[in-house]
Amino acid sequence: MTVACEYRPGLEGVPATQSSISFVDGTHGILEYRGIGIEELAKKSNFLETAYLLIWGELPTKDELYEFEHEIRYHRRLKYRIRDMMKCFPESGHPMDALQACAAALGLFYSRRALDDPAYIRAAVVRLLAKIPTMVAAFQLMRKGNDPIQPRDDLDYSANFLYMLTEREPDPLAAKIFDTGLILHAEHTINASTFSAMVTASTLTDPYAVIASAVGTLAGPLHGGASEEVILMLEEIGSVENVRPFVESALENRSKIMGFGHRVYKVKDPRAIILQQLAEQLFEKFGRDDYYDIAVELEKVVQEKLGHKGIYPNVDFYSGLVYRKLGIPSDLFTPVFAISRVAGWLAHWKEQLNENRIFRPTQIYTGFRGATYVPIEQRRSVGDKELLATLVGDLKP
Ligand code: SDX
Repeated sequence: MTVACEYRPGLEGVPATQSSISFVDGTHGILEYRGIGIEELAKKSNFLETAYLLIWGELPTKDELYEFEHEIRYHRRLKYRIRDMMKCFPESGHPMDALQACAAALGLFYSRRALDDPAYIRAAVVRLLAKIPTMVAAFQLMRKGNDPIQPRDDLDYSANFLYMLTEREPDPLAAKIFDTGLILHAEHTINASTFSAMVTASTLTDPYAVIASAVGTLAGPLHGGASEEVILMLEEIGSVENVRPFVESALENRSKIMGFGHRVYKVKDPRAIILQQLAEQLFEKFGRDDYYDIAVELEKVVQEKLGHKGIYPNVDFYSGLVYRKLGIPSDLFTPVFAISRVAGWLAHWKEQLNENRIFRPTQIYTGFRGATYVPIEQRRSVGDKELLATLVGDLKP
């Protein structure tokens, strides 16, 4: 097989699909879902309406939205066997690992696979959107030694999640801001977890395996896991005075400053701008967060030092400050990201099925060719192996 184009580490700039779900202009800081600007959606929409838009391609009518919300409300509960399975999870386990296991476990309970049946697709979309928040909240209560509480049918999607998590009905402003946060995280073109979802989807496996694989990918600190790392970093910095020495030392050690930089954005992420505003709205009502001044100073110093490289706050930088004010523990920040991103993953799953071809890229082989199998008794020590490698070097392609 011939190589179609040059090798680009991380597939930078290589188109992996054609998609009509979202659009990013990283130079001008523009993000649109199905053509609608993120700022407008954040102001006017709610998460489930946005999820509908992403997955079905257009804004729902009043009746369509009512039906969708109603179906999701009805499917929020978990089967008791899933709850029993979760009881066996170690309390010290990371909630993203718990979520990945639970998402995969759904495939055991809903094992029929009918990818060409619209009713099956709809049921999978509804189940995943409905049950993932319940799983995240249940794990949080269980690891504290408590029974999970049942969803409340009289509460909307976001208010119900906060209720299941904290066992208290949330303040309406807090629930609204949380919901806006979900809108902002719902979709972002071919990021790592979405790509992972698409690769898994392209094998025509079931949607629960698709979402489990995406959850595993989102967890890493270079992707969705960064939101948790940001708070740990702000904690480590500890004061506004420490910001400059922290940045200087990070740059000297060539370590990454969490919540900054993006493959596509070379300006401040438009979602970070809105999340910062949401954090400020929360501070106005519920009091300022001690870490906020550190974060603002950090943004200033990083911009001064790395702005010329296009390194600015990304979506994960201010989200943690919003979630902290809502009483969400820092290791749940990424699961909360997943609750929202399920919408984007499902939209790409559906789009992938419409014109599927299995992902099977190529590679540039850099190993030996035609090497001999050496019986174990005749294998040499490490020093000898290096010598051997130089001797057989001419076997390399
Ligand atoms: C998300 O793709 C998406 O859309 C993802 C996302 C979504 O909605 O799905 O937006 C969500 O994952 C946000 C990103 C969260 N991750 C972090 O905050 C971790 C810290 N950031 C990085 O490690 C990094 O910026 C990435 C992973 C986000 C992007 O990696 P790239 O595109 O491979 O860039 P790179 O690591 O090759 O960096 C390019 C240059 C390097 O300098 P040079 O060697 O060229 O001199 O920029 C520097 C890097 O050292 N750099 C940073 C930096 N990020 C990049 N330097 C210090 N701190 C940073 N955070």
